[in-house]
Amino acid sequence: MWFQTSLILVFTSCALAIWPAPQSFSSGNSVLWIGPDVQVTYNGGNSSLTSDTHDGITGSAIVKKGVTRALGTLFRQNIVPWKLVPRNGLSNFEPGGYSPKTYIKTLTITQTGTDNSSTFKPLAGQVDESYAISIGTDGTAEITAVSSVGVLHALQTFIQLFYQHSSAGTYTNLAPIKITDAPKFAHRGLNMDVARNWFPVEDILRTIDAISWNKFNILHLHMTDSQSWPMDIPALPELSQKGAYFTGLSYTPDDIKKIQTYAIQRGVEVVIEFDMPGHTTAIGIAYPDLIAAFDAQPWDTYCAEPPCGSLKLNSSAVDDFVDTLFGDVLPRVAPYSTYLHTGGDEVNVNAYLLDDTVKSNDSAVLQPLIQKLVDRNHAHIRAAGLTPVVWEEMLLVWNLTLGADVVVQTWQSDANVAAVTAQGHKVLAGNYNFWYLDCGKGQWLDFAEGASFAKFYPFNDYCSPTKNWRLVYSYDPLAGVPQNQTDLVLGGEVHIWSEQTDPVNLDDMVWPRASAAGEVLWSGRQDANGNNRTQLDASPRLAEMRERQHVGRGFQVPLCLGALSFSALHLETPHFACETPRRLLSKSRDRDPYRAQNPMR
Ligand SMILES: *[C@@H]1O[C@H](CO)[C@@H](O)[C@H](O)[C@H]1NC(C)=O
Ligand SMILES: *[C@@H]1O[C@H](CO)[C@@H](O)[C@H](O)[C@H]1NC(C)=O
Ligand SMILES: *[C@@H]1O[C@H](CO)[C@@H](O)[C@H](O)[C@H]1NC(C)=O
Ligand SMILES: *[C@@H]1O[C@H](CO)[C@@H](O)[C@H](O)[C@H]1NC(C)=O
Ligand SMILES: *[C@@H]1O[C@H](CO)[C@@H](O)[C@H](O)[C@H]1NC(C)=O
Ligand SMILES: *[C@@H]1O[C@H](CO)[C@@H](O)[C@H](O)[C@H]1NC(C)=O
Ligand SMILES: *[C@@H]1O[C@H](CO)[C@@H](O)[C@H](O)[C@H]1NC(C)=O
Repeated sequence: MWFQTSLILVFTSCALAIWPAPQSFSSGNSVLWIGPDVQVTYNGGNSSLTSDTHDGITGSAIVKKGVTRALGTLFRQNIVPWKLVPRNGLSNFEPGGYSPKTYIKTLTITQTGTDNSSTFKPLAGQVDESYAISIGTDGTAEITAVSSVGVLHALQTFIQLFYQHSSAGTYTNLAPIKITDAPKFAHRGLNMDVARNWFPVEDILRTIDAISWNKFNILHLHMTDSQSWPMDIPALPELSQKGAYFTGLSYTPDDIKKIQTYAIQRGVEVVIEFDMPGHTTAIGIAYPDLIAAFDAQPWDTYCAEPPCGSLKLNSSAVDDFVDTLFGDVLPRVAPYSTYLHTGGDEVNVNAYLLDDTVKSNDSAVLQPLIQKLVDRNHAHIRAAGLTPVVWEEMLLVWNLTLGADVVVQTWQSDANVAAVTAQGHKVLAGNYNFWYLDCGKGQWLDFAEGASFAKFYPFNDYCSPTKNWRLVYSYDPLAGVPQNQTDLVLGGEVHIWSEQTDPVNLDDMVWPRASAAGEVLWSGRQDANGNNRTQLDASPRLAEMRERQHVGRGFQVPLCLGALSFSALHLETPHFACETPRRLLSKSRDRDPYRAQNPMR
């Protein structure tokens, strides 16, 4: 090797640059190259080893597409790491481009287990996501995993081992490499609110891409809320015709299937939430008889956020509505999801003073009625073979009797995670003081001059300030949970509520801060020695992950997009930092053209 190994040691921040951190990683400092003609084999070409079929989805097809995407990223969307090394240090970091090169000629993928339908829509813990990677200095490269999902995770790690050379192809300077990896938590989710603002399907698909790169495995779609009902329910057509922000700004059954199957191809399960009985005003636009306290004022008496509105609690019309809703939705989503979320946060008792079927705000009167609604919903969900998820208030505020299968999603505190496990229930963490990505934008309501102006001045939102990545990273889903109950903590979710987020700022609001939660969920708050992971180690790796995600993969970086459209108008390109790597990339691509046809051999 002509490469001067001592220089690698100088730039240690570039080594171990994998995000999220693997459980075990060892590397050397030899250089290996990889080219588009690398042979990729999967079970020696014997795909009958994973001859699982689930509604047309097979593990071998998933792996094949995963390999195609990974090679595309490796050779077309890789980064020249000029930003990650000291000023003008690239030539010291990169191997000489014209020295004799040892290539990785074959990538051997071995899947040791057989997938089944649980692989594609697992209950937490049902799928083995572990994998191992081994790359020798002679250029042999192997991926081993039990499931196809493990192979997908391995591919995400594999591509992070390589950089684009500024002039000469694609290399790693870390060989030999040995990685063994598995997630700390089985449920690693992003909760995306698609009701407060409308998000076209492609925004959701792009978000699925990005969460899969960060080894999340759940996209929770907070589908409905008081502001809009953006999902078509063919049996209740007026729901979205009237309840969406604009007719047509709603997900068709085909859209939902597309989102779910796109996610499965990337090792992600989509969990749909119908929030009820609170947060349901939009139902009342189509079906006024079902909703109490519709747009009631003063709103802060009747709901947590305007416009107010809650499903009536003692109404046979509401029973018929939920029967029809679940009868329509569940058979369609059940092939691709194993959970369905029935919401249950922030139920306001006073809304039921205005409910003509109840006329009471007494919890003792309301509690059995909410129990009946939830029992009814959950019976539908179980009958369709799914498992219910609820917000914490259903257990901790309303003291409902929930099945042992039900997963309780907390958001208010660490103490509430422990309060759920203390009752023996499975729980998701995601304390809003750490994992709410929407915070810090200020109020979204207007205040007339006078008392309310003075009261809310200087107009911070309820959860400000912004949860910066260091704070996100410091969160431990197990904080406060007794040792003997930690098994009940399935994992957690980081949240993007969308009062002030729409397709324009979605990517900036979510990334790279969600990546910090992704590492906590995959790698754990503590390292293998039981020490808290440190920002000092995470910071350069997160910077590199952001670079790979935003610059390399062309993920929405507003300045870069601006630059592209500017140049399309033949104007000066305004943003130098975005342009440099692109120029370097296209130069090297000319010499090393990537041919995507049939990467599997
Ligand atoms: C593929 O694997 C299956 C299961 O182990 C085996 O029965 C079959 O003979 C193998 N086929 C080939 C072509 O190796
Ligand atoms: C699939 O396999 C996993 C692991 O062996 C198991 O836990 C799960 O119950 C299986 N699912 C089905 C539907 O057979
Ligand atoms: C529910 O409605 C029925 C009539 O339909 C009434 O008899 C009953 O008292 C109501 N329950 C409550 C708690 O208001
Ligand atoms: C219930 O309503 C009464 C007015 O009817 C009000 O005084 C009381 O504060 C309300 N209870 C709660 C818990 O808000
Ligand atoms: C739930 O239980 C707690 C603690 O016992 C109690 O304070 C609360 O009032 C109960 N809530 C309802 C709705 O019954
Ligand atoms: C580790 O982090 C947790 C919060 O996640 C914190 O409470 C604890 O004090 C930290 N431990 C040490 C030894 O710093
Ligand atoms: C778990 O530990 C707590 C003390 O932290 C103890 O009170 C409780 O009985 C234990 N529960 C089980 C199921 O062992």
